[in-house]
Amino acid sequence: MSQVDDSAPNDDARTNNHELFQRAQRVLPGGVNSPVRAFGSVGGTPYFVERGEGSRVWDADGREYIDYVQSYGASILGHADPTVVAAIQKAAEDGTTFGAPTRREVELAELVCSWVPGVEMIRMTSSGTEASMSAIRLARGATGRAKVVKFAGCYHGHVDSLLVAGGSGVANQGLVGSAGVTPAAVADTVVVPWNTVPTLDDDTAVLAVEPVAANMGLVAPEPGYLKALRAECDRVGALLFFDEVITGFRLGRGGATAWSGVTPDVWAFGKVLGGGLPVGAFGASREIMANIAPLGPVYQGGTLSGNPLATAAGLAVLAQLDDGRYEELAATARSLGDGLAEAIGGAGVPVQAPVVGPLVGLFFADQPVRNYDDAKEAAGRGLYPAFFHGMLERGIALAPGPYEAIFPSLAHTGADIERTVEAAAAVAGTLV
Ligand SMILES: Cc1ncc(COP(=O)(O)O)c(C=O)c1O
Repeated sequence: MSQVDDSAPNDDARTNNHELFQRAQRVLPGGVNSPVRAFGSVGGTPYFVERGEGSRVWDADGREYIDYVQSYGASILGHADPTVVAAIQKAAEDGTTFGAPTRREVELAELVCSWVPGVEMIRMTSSGTEASMSAIRLARGATGRAKVVKFAGCYHGHVDSLLVAGGSGVANQGLVGSAGVTPAAVADTVVVPWNTVPTLDDDTAVLAVEPVAANMGLVAPEPGYLKALRAECDRVGALLFFDEVITGFRLGRGGATAWSGVTPDVWAFGKVLGGGLPVGAFGASREIMANIAPLGPVYQGGTLSGNPLATAAGLAVLAQLDDGRYEELAATARSLGDGLAEAIGGAGVPVQAPVVGPLVGLFFADQPVRNYDDAKEAAGRGLYPAFFHGMLERGIALAPGPYEAIFPSLAHTGADIERTVEAAAAVAGTLV
């Protein structure tokens, strides 16, 4: 492994990263194609990835990092897995898109339906955002109701009606979370706190849930919580929507559905399902999916939906995932979470490092974080940017923001975890 060159930090004006970022900012807003990549909440210059392999990425200056971003959970095998690369190459040779159905779409749909208990049909999309947007439209179409209830701190992609956060003092009302989203677009959205069971009414079409919240840092549902949400939906005839874009095919073959034993009515998937290519899918029972065009009146479509490269990559990834591999990944996550907690806590810095199966979280907090307010309070301590940069300088790439989960992959080795934990101890020592 090449050594990280500490004499050339990546915000030095001489570096390729710096030069690329200057050029990028002239032609891409903030220099990026997705906001968190811009390092806005940690400061400094983003590293531009030239290539990745397994647990590692290399940037434009040749610096090597152990990568825990892993495309925010899209890459469960690590980067450039040879089997996946070969499957994509083969698919590309046969044609990249047709606008007609293909065999692999059927095979991937059959696999999803057989792995996730309760899913009988899916429709593929090109992103998780499209999947959750379509799931909400489906739920509204199927129930004939308008209201969507979502949790503060849960992210479902940049869907207008879901881009709302609970604002202080207006706890029960949807607030516009982005310029360009009209009050009318969120008029039927209600935001409620995570890990508290909301009281729904019979105008509610759907309760949208990340079954393991992973976009406010990692915040597990408390014992019995998802079951209580199921019961509350049943009480008023609302649909329960599990956004499994992160948890799907990551917590296990059956995702958070099998993990929790709670079956929702509607699902969204993405990330792992596409094997690192652009994919999403939403699904439900045959009866609910019968509302989707061309079977029913809820319109949904896409030029690249079920794309041949993406289905090839997805199938190649899923073929490698079985209970043994999930156990392996969960063990890696456990040793990372425990190691971080010990290393950072040992330096006298308040830390919580929750672990749920293969997912790891990191909060600078004294007490376990149970909802978005707690997560914001932890982030408000302001320790993350220094921790992030300290780790990056030591060759460990975490997500450049305090509200992201940590994604170890199946390519991360015990030695990777050891090195990460050693770095965390050293960096934590600089924070006190
Ligand atoms: C839970 C969840 N839902 C939906 C999305 C949106 O997916 P995409 O970024 O593929 O549009 C994300 C993305 O991070 C997510 O984490």
